[in-house]
Amino acid sequence: MVRTHVAKILKTAQPGDVVKVGGWVRTRRDSKQSFSFVELNDGSCFSSIQIVVDGDTPGYDTIKDVTTGSCISVVGEVKESQGQGQRIELHAQELVLHGTADGDSYPLQKKRHSFEFLREIAHLRPRTNTFGAITRVRNAAAAAVHNFFQDRGFHYIQTPIITTSDCEGAGQMFSVTTLNLERIAEVQTKLDYSQDFFGKRAALTVSGQLEAEIFACGLGECYTFGPTFRAENSNTTSHLAEFWMIEPEMPFYELPDNMALAEEFIRHVISRVLDRCAEDMEFFNQRIDKTVLETLRNITDNEFIRLPYTEAVDILQKSGQKFEYPVEWGHDLQSEHERFLTEQHFKQPVILFDYPRTIKPFYMRCNDDGKTVRAMDVLVPRVGEIIGGSQREERLDVLEARMKECDLDPAEYWWYTDLRRYGTVPHSGFGLGFERLIQLVTGMQNIRDCIPFPRVPKSADF
Ligand code: 4AD
Ligand code: MG
Repeated sequence: MVRTHVAKILKTAQPGDVVKVGGWVRTRRDSKQSFSFVELNDGSCFSSIQIVVDGDTPGYDTIKDVTTGSCISVVGEVKESQGQGQRIELHAQELVLHGTADGDSYPLQKKRHSFEFLREIAHLRPRTNTFGAITRVRNAAAAAVHNFFQDRGFHYIQTPIITTSDCEGAGQMFSVTTLNLERIAEVQTKLDYSQDFFGKRAALTVSGQLEAEIFACGLGECYTFGPTFRAENSNTTSHLAEFWMIEPEMPFYELPDNMALAEEFIRHVISRVLDRCAEDMEFFNQRIDKTVLETLRNITDNEFIRLPYTEAVDILQKSGQKFEYPVEWGHDLQSEHERFLTEQHFKQPVILFDYPRTIKPFYMRCNDDGKTVRAMDVLVPRVGEIIGGSQREERLDVLEARMKECDLDPAEYWWYTDLRRYGTVPHSGFGLGFERLIQLVTGMQNIRDCIPFPRVPKSADF
């Protein structure tokens, strides 16, 4: 007999149905009259199923080892439940104990564990309520991402993970090499990348944007959804060294079109998750952040504010708020500034645009004022920047001048400038950090709990 998911049983099974379930035991209670109640969770949904095992059920002789964390499967009959809070329960006809979990050493006992501790046992945390819920939300969000773009005729492009160009120009790349660094350190002082695997310096990508642009300038609307890597040494609750990014790229889109798409995209994913993961979202709202559902409804129900960077600086400077970092035109906004704007001032998501060119990458389109570029950042409550994007510079001469200004050699980006040399097109795109989206949706404090296996400075276990 094939196992049925608990999610399906709880939703559709009728008294009298005989089903097989399998999963990991959350708790067991024994009654004096030689029968036991077992709470079984199989990850298919937040709820566990209650199983009643009678003393004469085949397999009952192992019941003492059916402890928290052990793995069992049960064939049983569905009956209406006498207990509170559940529609049905399962009366076992056969119990098989697959794997015991010694109560003295199993790290996940039935008490609340801190998220810090759970990160140290990332191989077992998928068995907790919180990580089960995060995983299902992440899954539903990923499906919603594809679904949003597929419905709009965007092509899904798999961009390379190993690259020789630094899209963001921030020098935060992890090198990829087959050179014997230890040997080289002993005998020479300089690395010769011509001897390296790719014949030049290569690294893990920080963004799939440049390659997405290639496809957009020929195939129309495209998007990427893949892992990106940044060696930023920032130990914050919103930075990872490895994170997933969704990067749509659209020909014939100008900045306002880009903003509208970003807004629609965020709304779509949130609505889908609220719809598909109602039980998990109820849990987040009760146990993780009591304002999360309200925050999300506020996002789905209201237009995002659009505000030039220059006006945001003005608001911040006149706010009378004490910030750790001063606000000055020409400097990047810190997350405390972004959060002030979206949480306190507007109490809504805000799209800031037209940033100073000196703090933004080479590919953004220059405005006529000579000072700003057509950049946009989408800011949301609690998380701050969730999307960064721009209209791209489609004029070859302006692009080449900008590259030089950014200390980049246009010759090294010959394929990128070719897109402007042959059939150039106004176009735009953005990047959404998937883990920041999960942080927003779940209300989790730390981004390290929004990805299965976080990579951060000094930590890449599992
Ligand atoms: O603003 P960023 O650096 O923009 C780009 O990479 C562009 N190439 C995107 C584009 O236009 N196609 O990064 C985009 C988003 C940020 O808004 C943030 O949500 C997320 O990626 N992000 C990170 N998430 C987790 N950890 C990090 N270290 C992140 N750095 C950026
Ligand atoms: Mg950014």
